[in-house]
Amino acid sequence: MRQSIVFLCQVSLCVCLVAGLVFSQTSSVAAQEITVSEDTFGCILDLPKVRNTRIKHDDPEKLKEAKRILRDSVPETEYPVGTILQLVPHEAMVKHSHDKFPKTNGWEFFFLEVSKEGTKIQDRGDSVVNVSQGVTCLSCHQPAAKFDFVCEKGHGCAPIPFDDQKIAAIQKADPRCAKN
Ligand code: HEC
Repeated sequence: MRQSIVFLCQVSLCVCLVAGLVFSQTSSVAAQEITVSEDTFGCILDLPKVRNTRIKHDDPEKLKEAKRILRDSVPETEYPVGTILQLVPHEAMVKHSHDKFPKTNGWEFFFLEVSKEGTKIQDRGDSVVNVSQGVTCLSCHQPAAKFDFVCEKGHGCAPIPFDDQKIAAIQKADPRCAKN
């Protein structure tokens, strides 16, 4: 009798452990995925910015965390999965889990075509080429690996040929923004 009670306890403990494991895995996978479509992107001026960079996350807490990492240039710290960064309307970086894009800590680069009608994804992945410069996004962003591939100023990336004023003007000219 006593043995069978012990056995039953062991079985139920096992069931609990397995259920807990399955649950925690499915919930962490759900928290880590972001699906990107053309509707993910819109008028760049609608997004809050830190210095030049527009930033988006659907979860307000994670947005706060991402803004903090960007604002304080925190080294060796990764942006939360689901973070979207944009400097100009036709380019974006979206953070996925590492296993999707191991070379870039999970970042996926986007080259977008934007018009009044909306956004078209021209290219995406970790080997996207910046057409006007003829090099991959990653080749420029790689030196900033310590800052989770975010270039900002002073993170080691080759500079882009636009100053802050020009970047602001390019953002303002986003054809997806209603006022344009
Ligand atoms: C010539 C090098 C170069 C290339 C090529 C390049 N970038 Fe950047 N990128 C930079 C620099 C430098 C900054 C920071 C500019 C600033 O804040 O003044 C930057 C900023 C950004 C930002 C804002 C966050 C950050 O890293 O500071 C995003 C998003 C971004 N680039 C995406 C892309 C995408 C997508 C591509 C490819 C389609 C690309 N970049 C190609 C150099 C480059």
